[in-house]
Amino acid sequence: MSELTSGVTVSADPGAGFGLAGKVALVTGAASGIGRATAELLARAGCLVAAVDVNAGGFAGIELGDGGSTDVADVSVPTACERVVTGVLARHQRLDILVNAAAILRRVPIAEVDAALWEEVMDTNLLSQFAMCRAAARPMRKQGSGRIVNISSTAAFNGGANNSSVYAIAKGGVLALTKSLARQLASDGVLVNAICPGGIDTPMGRQGFTEERWNAHYAANVPLKRAGRPEEVANAILFLVSDWASYVTGHTLDVEGGLLLR
Ligand SMILES: NC(=O)c1ccc[n+]([C@@H]2O[C@H](COP(=O)([O-])OP(=O)(O)OC[C@H]3O[C@@H](n4cnc5c(N)ncnc54)[C@H](O)[C@@H]3O)[C@@H](O)[C@H]2O)c1
Repeated sequence: MSELTSGVTVSADPGAGFGLAGKVALVTGAASGIGRATAELLARAGCLVAAVDVNAGGFAGIELGDGGSTDVADVSVPTACERVVTGVLARHQRLDILVNAAAILRRVPIAEVDAALWEEVMDTNLLSQFAMCRAAARPMRKQGSGRIVNISSTAAFNGGANNSSVYAIAKGGVLALTKSLARQLASDGVLVNAICPGGIDTPMGRQGFTEERWNAHYAANVPLKRAGRPEEVANAILFLVSDWASYVTGHTLDVEGGLLLR
């Protein structure tokens, strides 16, 4: 590590790893797909990972190492988010990293979107991230450090798949949330960034596709000619929560094989 004239310490030794050993990380949506790959990667990087999901059965076989834990909670309910963060603080007395990955996809034509569907998708995909960020920001500000990564989607930029307007709206909100918090929390040493995955091979990503359409779709529409793997999104998240991203905040990192090229 070297001390810059500004007083900021940066990692200068590639052999030092990512600086994540012993960090306390909370990952939502951790029973499946991107959240699960992220929880397992952070655990391998040395983090004490609290994996949170509404689907208890999905945790089967998850590899979090000795310091890991699983917690069944519905993050669309703000009081549940508060409870989850309180539990992590009781166990570890700090919270260094929050990754908000939990979400649902509902494909419903706009004419059929009713108040219940709007509420279900917005609460699960946007209110949840707001509530988790609000709860996590308290200990992070006290510590004077923290990293938050919110998972948005390329849908925030291109409108998303057919009939998923509420999902796309919520994902746009995630980007606004990320920028707003990046600005508010910067002076407390809390860095807040977003990831925009494109098509990723998870149960959600596969929703509405046959195997044949899935392959043809990505071959035709993505410069890298394939869908992404959850581990490839986890890699980008690991960068954003590591020492290597110490001067990155309010950023949106696309992990989409060149789909948007924006
Ligand atoms: N897979 C893709 O192609 C893709 C593309 C763009 C963005 N994303 C985003 O990436 C993130 C992860 O998606 P994924 O593809 O891994 O999906 P996934 O369906 O594999 O996993 C989502 C997880 O979130 C959990 N979850 C849903 N509602 C919850 C709730 N109320 N409380 C707690 N947990 C809840 C589910 O049980 C599931 O385990 C999501 O935010 C999604 O919108 C995915």
